[in-house]
Amino acid sequence: MQLEWLRLEHFRNYPQLFLDGFSETNVFFGKNAQGKTNLLESIYLLATLQTLRPAANKDLVAWEKETAYLEGKLSYQDIHRTFSVQIHEKSKRPKINDKSIKKTKEYFGLMNVISFSPLDLQTLQGPPQNRRRYLDRALFHFDPMYAQEIGRYMRALIQRNAALKLEQGSQIEIWGEKLIQSGAYIVSKRLQFIEKLNTLTPCLYQEISGLDGAVEVRYEAAVSCPLNVSDEETIRQILSEEQRRLAWQERKFKRSLVGPHRDEFSMYLNEKNFRTFGSQGEQRTAILALKLSELEALKREKGIKPIFLLDDIASELDTDRRNFLFQSLRNKNVQVFVTTTDPENVNVNKNKAKMYKVHQGSVTEV
Ligand SMILES: Nc1ncnc2c1ncn2[C@@H]1O[C@H](COP(=O)(O)OP(=O)(O)OP(=O)(O)O)[C@@H](O)[C@H]1O
Ligand SMILES: [Mg+2]
Repeated sequence: MQLEWLRLEHFRNYPQLFLDGFSETNVFFGKNAQGKTNLLESIYLLATLQTLRPAANKDLVAWEKETAYLEGKLSYQDIHRTFSVQIHEKSKRPKINDKSIKKTKEYFGLMNVISFSPLDLQTLQGPPQNRRRYLDRALFHFDPMYAQEIGRYMRALIQRNAALKLEQGSQIEIWGEKLIQSGAYIVSKRLQFIEKLNTLTPCLYQEISGLDGAVEVRYEAAVSCPLNVSDEETIRQILSEEQRRLAWQERKFKRSLVGPHRDEFSMYLNEKNFRTFGSQGEQRTAILALKLSELEALKREKGIKPIFLLDDIASELDTDRRNFLFQSLRNKNVQVFVTTTDPENVNVNKNKAKMYKVHQGSVTEV
């Protein structure tokens, strides 16, 4: 996958920007607070309609403006598509080839982007919802149906919690069924994805760190029996049983207590949880191994080489780990957009890479 060009209007600190002729490796360097992360964020947003950092729509639109506009042309095999998103305070309106997209599932999965930024440490360190978000975002690339099922699940959850508050017995039942139907699909896909990660992540972790050690990713479902099957029907039965078991508690607390909105995952190094035992560097390496596994899985399973966004990479990793990262991205022939305050920290072939200087919301190729 190759982004050919990018246009921004009134996005964050960019009044207007048009960049054409991207190379396989594109390095954006500049001082702090110039717009480097904003630029990567615009690419991420075009691909996923989500932001890299938590942000409301109005934060994305340049201050004192009403609307922001992003547009980019993507080439994949022999297909060229122009993606665009218009952002208002209350909405994001996506289009592909100038055609409005009403259902997000028609948008997801066509432009694949994986990012690695300092914020990713929060995937391991932060609350469980960060880990659920990581799984869900990763799965959007593999299966556009997954995004739709997450939408259905969240709707059922809101409706059921409302019914629990109002003590509406039949509604609790109806939405409970829907919750389990979508929930089983979600859990089975997450388990399958974690299985894939476990065939790739341990090796990558060893390669990046240069150290031996058994790494494992474990899905932690909030159910009373171990959930180590990815068969949807079996999961449905387990969730149903669990919902029956906790029915009285759900009515007491007026909240749905069963389903993938309560699950998460952990990563272990020699049976020790990275979250509690890992150093910052070990945690970064673990996340990087996850992201590179995602990249490899997409390539193997779907033949897709996603775009890789690396924000502020210099501050993240030591020299050996950085070298390994750039080497492996080169070997995989993926298009990379990198930001850094110091171009010396980026180990790229300067003859092949394009270098851009970012200064106060404008970008110059150097
Ligand atoms: N909606 C907005 N309108 C105008 N400016 C904004 C908006 N949102 C963010 N900014 C500004 O954009 C500037 C650049 O932010 P960005 O995060 O891209 O910097 P950066 O170059 O990545 O810096 P660092 O090296 O510190 O990470 C910041 O000064 C920020 O205040
Ligand atoms: Mg930044």
